[in-house]
Amino acid sequence: KDTPYLRVTPSMLKHYTGRKGKDAWTVLGGKVYNITPYLPFHPGGEPELLRGAARDGTKLFGEIHPWVNYEGMLSACLVGIYVTEEEQTT
Ligand code: HEM
Repeated sequence: KDTPYLRVTPSMLKHYTGRKGKDAWTVLGGKVYNITPYLPFHPGGEPELLRGAARDGTKLFGEIHPWVNYEGMLSACLVGIYVTEEEQTT
């Protein structure tokens, strides 16, 4: 049996800011990624990448570089799927 995806809610996500020693998580296309290991490699720099931390970065990402294949690049950094608080408890 496959391991189920971790279900991440907005209240969980908001802690992962990448600041004060915490990991940085973002949401892209409904999936939650830990972008911490990618921070030093981001061509746009760490502060830019951190603009997408602790929130849904889908729109921001799409405004800047929709051609970038984040699914391929971050496949090893997948944390789980993004769900509402209601979906988490039902
Ligand atoms: C380049 C911002 C997330 C991969 C850039 C650049 C900016 C930027 C401003 C342009 C740098 C330059 O040309 O000097 C952001 C913001 C993000 C974000 C605000 C937050 C959502 C990501 C993620 C990935 C990524 C999650 C990959 C997993 C790249 C790549 C480039 C780039 C590959 C070079 C693209 C090219 O030159 O065609 N980013 N980025 N970025 N970023 Fe991001």
